[in-house]
Amino acid sequence: MAVPDQPRSLRFEDAEDIGSNDSANPAFADILAERFSRRDLMGGMLATTAMAAVLSPAALLTGCAEDVSATPNFNFPEVAAGANETHYVAEGYNAQILIRWGDKVVTGAPAFEAAKLSADAQAMQFGYNNDFLGFIPIGGRSDLGLLVVNHEYTNEELMFAGADPTAKRGKRFANMTPQQVAVEMMAHGGSVIEVKREGETWKVVADSKYARRITAHTEMEITGPAAGHDKMKTSADPDGRKVLGMINNCSGAITPWGTWLSCEENFNGYFWNKKASPNSLHAAALQRYGAPSEWYSWGKFHDRFDIAKEPNEINRFGWVVEIDPFDPASTPKKRTALGRFKHEGAGNVVNKDGRFVIYQGDDQALDYIYRFVTRGKVDEARREGNKDLLDEGTLYVARFDADGSGVWLPLVFGSGPLTRASGFTDQGDVLIHTRIAADLVGATKMDRPEDIEVNWKTGKVYCMLTKNKERNAFSADAANPRADNAFGHIIELLPAGGDHAGPTFRWEILVKCGDPGSGNVGATFNPATSANGWFANPDNCVVDAEGRLWVATDGNSIDSTGRADGLWGLETDGKARGTGRLFFRCPVGAELCGPCITPDSRTFFVAVQHPGQSTGGRVSTFESPSTRWPDFDPETPPRPSVVAITRTGGGKIGV
Ligand code: FEO
Ligand code: CA
Ligand code: CA
Ligand code: CA
Repeated sequence: MAVPDQPRSLRFEDAEDIGSNDSANPAFADILAERFSRRDLMGGMLATTAMAAVLSPAALLTGCAEDVSATPNFNFPEVAAGANETHYVAEGYNAQILIRWGDKVVTGAPAFEAAKLSADAQAMQFGYNNDFLGFIPIGGRSDLGLLVVNHEYTNEELMFAGADPTAKRGKRFANMTPQQVAVEMMAHGGSVIEVKREGETWKVVADSKYARRITAHTEMEITGPAAGHDKMKTSADPDGRKVLGMINNCSGAITPWGTWLSCEENFNGYFWNKKASPNSLHAAALQRYGAPSEWYSWGKFHDRFDIAKEPNEINRFGWVVEIDPFDPASTPKKRTALGRFKHEGAGNVVNKDGRFVIYQGDDQALDYIYRFVTRGKVDEARREGNKDLLDEGTLYVARFDADGSGVWLPLVFGSGPLTRASGFTDQGDVLIHTRIAADLVGATKMDRPEDIEVNWKTGKVYCMLTKNKERNAFSADAANPRADNAFGHIIELLPAGGDHAGPTFRWEILVKCGDPGSGNVGATFNPATSANGWFANPDNCVVDAEGRLWVATDGNSIDSTGRADGLWGLETDGKARGTGRLFFRCPVGAELCGPCITPDSRTFFVAVQHPGQSTGGRVSTFESPSTRWPDFDPETPPRPSVVAITRTGGGKIGV
């Protein structure tokens, strides 16, 4: 079907399909030669050994024969794939709307009025486009806890009457008023809510002492090696240590000490003034980060988002923010040691030597996978002992070699090419320009790395590579093998010796996504996968207390796959490896974010983001949205919402 001239089906992440990485990593000729030699080797092994019948890719990865008796781990009646105006959950489960855009978060918040949005109200209400969800138990309970939520971005065409639905990116929302921009800024950031299950019903605890809204105006501290750096100083903050707000926070993580890691992603879209001509070094950095993009009008009304007026403000975004959700007065901290790029998530693990390890994806076509290892060890006795753990450590970027091995390349000032000769002045400079440093050390360009999670049970790490249409036959490599990769794949990393801080890893592709019944797609789901069980465009993921991987998607549509986005269980081991199973299906236009399951495996929280967004040829607006989910009130636009899913009558999910 022909796609009309870029209707509002364009989403911010679509711009991330366009890579900004024109580095020469690695030499394509080398990759091609190695790729085919490895493929031949693998094919030879499978064809000529009697083990072929029992060796799965997982077994090849670990070198161990698999447990052929393994049975599927997901036990629920599958949802039928498709797309319409509402959501579906597996039979025998309840999906309850927990909180919606505009609902009350902090004490005194007014009721939501779609026709009368105001910044003051929005600052106290639940923000737009819920993405990451993290459940932090209170008192060790799975029926009482804090739910922390990222509010990634705003869909003006669905929020404001009269917003031009055909506005193109670059001129998007150029006619927004200062009042509307103020609403947008308050709809970004995050929320902390206290949630409680009574019987099978989840409720937001009213007037909780923990309730908090974080917005584009919340004061934050800059910590770690880039704090106080000359390139972090602005006229409002001559010390380079304080910044207002976090923006485009996508996925994230919860630490073992109960803090929330909230990850800034497409910060480039908020900065203004393409006509500015910064000095050449700054210009190169801006190009590599895709800035300024002028997706929003913020720079029209706020000098700090105009790079001609405040050239360094942009350096203060693109970080991982650590927040203590138990203290609503605490100052969020931007942890610069973790690097600056378009962060998706922060899958983490306490390494066997006690150090804390965070895996991270940089969500853009042809960008990289990173790993941060703390210098110190996690203090398991004292929460306070981990207060500044994330400020010291080493950031690495991944190189995937064609023989199935991989190397973590350190991004340390003074080592390799990361010297003054390359233009870096110190470690802070390396971190502010993480992408450029990673280009120089020879990282492997990936197919848009989104969420990443460690399976606590097996030690394997899963990274969602959502898609990459910029990949072509010449740039395809072993880890990103499909040209014009429209449907994405999932890659599995196994740290050598089970050491998450070690220098090397092995890797294998878990599944190439898309319709396995379509010959030219090349999908590799297990043949046991039903017509509903395959998916495309993996984005968010979570590993539950049973050690099972759940995958949420962003990009399925009637046009691309004939189905809405949703949540699939995906087998990772044994004979069932690569079998998908559809558990929850989104309403039209939405992507599914934030899958988060309670420690007792009895509740799944999922974030339905941008319901009713334009998709394919259907232009969706405030006046005429493609769905009015979840209220279905003729006066109310669709509202991004968190859904709590429980089993009817109680019990573990999918067991
Ligand atoms: Fe915000 Fe990469 O998704
Ligand atoms: Ca995402
Ligand atoms: Ca996740
Ligand atoms: Ca995505």
